[in-house]
Amino acid sequence: METMPQTSTTSQAAAARLVRPFQRTLLRWYGRHQRPLPWRKTRDPYKILVSEIMLQQTQVDRVIPKYHEFLRRYPTVHELARARVRELRNVWYPLGYNVRPLRLRTIARRVIRQHGGKIPDSYDGLIAMDGIGRYTAGAVLSFAFNRDAATLDTNVARLLQRYFGASTNRRLWELAQRVIPRGKGYEINQAMMDFGAAVCTARRPQCSTCVLRRSCRSYPYAQPPAASRARRRRRD
Ligand code: ADE
Repeated sequence: METMPQTSTTSQAAAARLVRPFQRTLLRWYGRHQRPLPWRKTRDPYKILVSEIMLQQTQVDRVIPKYHEFLRRYPTVHELARARVRELRNVWYPLGYNVRPLRLRTIARRVIRQHGGKIPDSYDGLIAMDGIGRYTAGAVLSFAFNRDAATLDTNVARLLQRYFGASTNRRLWELAQRVIPRGKGYEINQAMMDFGAAVCTARRPQCSTCVLRRSCRSYPYAQPPAASRARRRRRD
């Protein structure tokens, strides 16, 4: 897909008109197409934190088996806090970015020491931990504590960038907050992640059948799907 010309960046007023159709259409789509991911069967903040740290820079398919294995071995912060480095690395292998399990253990220890063994339910409490950035804090707040907290992973950022024609990181975070219908932080955040992974993908977005295409600011610049382009070339 081509990127939009910078001159047509969406104004605040135009963005306001685009928010409602975005919310409505996306939530309807999510109702039909949501993936049955294991971390969606729990609201346990520890399990959700583990999933989100695993999902940082690793694909969903690779995370699923490791998520189960990790939680079998370390079902609560208490087991994780006592974990040995070697075993921890073995359980984590082959996810990569080996500093992540060690950071998780540091978080578990701090949660026990400072928060009575409970993952904090505030942005400040979460962001204070090494390994939890703005994105992960928002994900934990919305997925574990049902807060209307913004979260912006690569899938969400791409979707918001294309749909609203937004470009700066600051604007994307504003939009990530703005698109949350009151009380629906959990649903809309999960929906944006699934939609970005399945439809509004990086390399081959399915623009021609996309349910958001009518109001998407990038749709006018969408390339036709590769197959029809090939057919057209052959006919010419
Ligand atoms: N990527 C990061 N967090 C995710 C989640 N909760 N569901 C699907 N993909 C994700």
